Amino acid sequence: MEDKEKKLRQINQQLKALVSGEDDYLANLSNAAALLYNELEKVNWAGFYLMKEGELVLGPFQGLPACIRIKVGNGVCGSAVEDEKTYVVEDVHQFEGHIACDSASESEIVVPLYADERIVGVLDIDSPIKERFDDIDKKYLEEFAKIISKESKFQMDALESLKSRRSVRSFKDKKVEDEKIIEMIDAARLAPSGKNIQPVEYLIIQDEKKRKEITEIASGGDFIAEAPLCIAVISKKCEHDIEDGSAATENILISAKAQGLDSCWVAGYKKDYSSGIEEYFSLPEDYRLISLLAIGYSNKDPEPPAKKSIEEVIHYENFDLEREV
Ligand SMILES: Cc1cc2nc3c(=O)[nH]c(=O)nc-3n(C[C@H](O)[C@H](O)[C@H](O)COP(=O)(O)O)c2cc1C
Repeated sequence: MEDKEKKLRQINQQLKALVSGEDDYLANLSNAAALLYNELEKVNWAGFYLMKEGELVLGPFQGLPACIRIKVGNGVCGSAVEDEKTYVVEDVHQFEGHIACDSASESEIVVPLYADERIVGVLDIDSPIKERFDDIDKKYLEEFAKIISKESKFQMDALESLKSRRSVRSFKDKKVEDEKIIEMIDAARLAPSGKNIQPVEYLIIQDEKKRKEITEIASGGDFIAEAPLCIAVISKKCEHDIEDGSAATENILISAKAQGLDSCWVAGYKKDYSSGIEEYFSLPEDYRLISLLAIGYSNKDPEPPAKKSIEEVIHYENFDLEREV
């Protein structure tokens, strides 16, 4: 037993050395899979499945080719996500709904992988012998998963982020990290700009009292008081400042989602309260408010709102008057 613990402790030390100072999650997961596969005895598959658009998709691994997509709740991996706990399975053939990728697998351990308290995937290890894994493996492999989470930035790609973004109006009491704020502003400043004038600027408001005062002026944005971060997108008035400000606003929302944050756009422009907010921030006369953004970690996932279908909104070559909608 002591030898086993010593080995697992050693593997975790090796992992720390491998991932230290590196935040690319694919690189870290790839090295982590190779480390486990080569260092653990009696293992025929070691790797990761990652959450993408609500299901698990095969990530970096070592071993035979494996099944690519697993629905939440299916098999050992899907169950670990649904129940948010580690599964130690002594005999995979006894596990209801077990997904057989490698017929040699007899036992399995699956550990959830977290980033900012949300599950981003699972660590999955298979063995060709029964009862290969126990509570000691569980303890050290959960630590293994934590080491990866601590060092790695789990970011969605832009398409997944924009498709999964929903307006969220309820937030956890958890500060948004400074580097994530900078990443959002970086995405905003790179947005397209009419004649490349770049008139848009950003006010970062984290102070609780200020956020509350903002909600007293901006009706319809009460949740700004609850969100740990409010970004006011403002613009120097010019020919295309509304379009520029809106493009920058959208880039912030997409960048927020890609970094595990949620948000809601609160109208800033053309509202009765717009001048009240502009006065509150003492904006110069030639600036205006474009939008107020509530940003933070979601407390509960909202019901997806109804969206028009592609067929309802697309026209080819000309406006199609005859089309049935
Ligand atoms: C210009 C604009 C202004 C908005 N203003 C508000 C607002 O004042 N309060 C609010 O709760 N949501 C506001 N929203 C969010 C919309 O209600 C939301 O985008 C819409 O219901 C669709 O939901 P989704 O964002 O989840 O796709 C605004 C969105 C836009 C684009």
